[in-house]
Amino acid sequence: MALRQRIIVKAGSCRYPVIFSRHRRQLGKIIGSADRVIIISNPTVFSLHGDKFVYNYLPDDLEVVLLLMEDGERFKTQKTVNNLYDQLFSIHLGRCDTIIAFGGGVVGDTAGFTAATYMRGVGLIQAPTTLLSMVDSSIGGKVGINHARGKNLIGAFYQPRAVVVDPVWLTTLGRREMVEGLAEIIKVGFLSSAKFLHEAVDTEPVFSAGQKKRVNYLIQEAMKFKADVVGQDANDRDVRAILNFGHTFAHAIEKAEGFRKYRHGEAVLAGMVGAFYLSYASGHLTKSRMKKYQSYLNQFVKDLAPLKRKASDYLSPMYVDKKGSNGRLQFVLLEKIGCAVLRTVRSEKKVLEAIEFMKEFVNNKGVL
Ligand SMILES: NC(=O)c1ccc[n+]([C@@H]2O[C@H](COP(=O)([O-])OP(=O)(O)OC[C@H]3O[C@@H](n4cnc5c(N)ncnc54)[C@H](O)[C@@H]3O)[C@@H](O)[C@H]2O)c1
Repeated sequence: MALRQRIIVKAGSCRYPVIFSRHRRQLGKIIGSADRVIIISNPTVFSLHGDKFVYNYLPDDLEVVLLLMEDGERFKTQKTVNNLYDQLFSIHLGRCDTIIAFGGGVVGDTAGFTAATYMRGVGLIQAPTTLLSMVDSSIGGKVGINHARGKNLIGAFYQPRAVVVDPVWLTTLGRREMVEGLAEIIKVGFLSSAKFLHEAVDTEPVFSAGQKKRVNYLIQEAMKFKADVVGQDANDRDVRAILNFGHTFAHAIEKAEGFRKYRHGEAVLAGMVGAFYLSYASGHLTKSRMKKYQSYLNQFVKDLAPLKRKASDYLSPMYVDKKGSNGRLQFVLLEKIGCAVLRTVRSEKKVLEAIEFMKEFVNNKGVL
């Protein structure tokens, strides 16, 4: 489990580093000569780690302006963004200023969208504090908010100047949030290599001293994988789509179940099961591989709430998902570990079957 030294994300004409804790002094250089910085966070995260973050990462003479948004997916909205704009105008934030998004994916996406759109864009630094946001949402520049019609439907591509990652923040994360992050890491395993997948599925969803080295390794490798994919397709027109493996199902679950009951990473776990079945039913994946792959998720789906709605309730949100265009349903399907393809599935019947299969797997706590 070799730990990498440096990760540089190359997205179109942008290049930015992932700064791990031992290179924390670099952050001051990235902020440059500005005499203040704006941190957007939420009360949960900032009360746990905010003071130490400011003390350890930011230059002593920098003025820190703290803006707090409410905690939760349901606050990833235009209303929250408008509220942040108002506060930014009242402190006369200018184009040379920098916003640091300090929190999980909800803060990262909302603060990122605010930074992208306020006066056509101010500097952004992502400081993700959940496992999921470290390995996924902080890299690649997708920022955005939810709309009544679906998740993440309003947004932009806006690359940060740096991503700051300190696994010490994970020590206060609950089991639920660790499961969520592991779900995205396991997804990377299915998209990349069996070796990495096995490391991921053998990980307990807790950040204990005994697992620290393994979790650090998983974070770095998953970030590297995402950075590589983003480097090939910054604007999500081509290969980047594979990162959405399990996500068409996942977004539909979040929408149908409500964001409070099903968090993003939890929905991705369940969504991968739907995607395995659809891959099999569409002739891409053998039945034995499907069975083997779903068994890797057994220990994690035990934590999920039952999926109680009718299959059609999960189907309809798929048509407004960004992956479903012109009324067609598109899915990332798996052929084997490390080999995924984006396909339009014309048979609604197969999609409904996949939803039923996913429901049964989740509701039986993984044993089928
Ligand atoms: N932009 C992208 O590319 C992308 C990719 C994947 C997911 N997302 C988005 O990310 C969001 C989910 O992110 P998330 O899973 O980080 O959820 P989250 O931001 O809601 O965080 C989960 C909970 O953990 C708390 N928390 C955060 N850091 C903590 C810490 N260190 N210790 C204790 N508690 C902490 C938060 O306050 C929150 O209550 C969704 O909105 C999803 O759409 C975006």
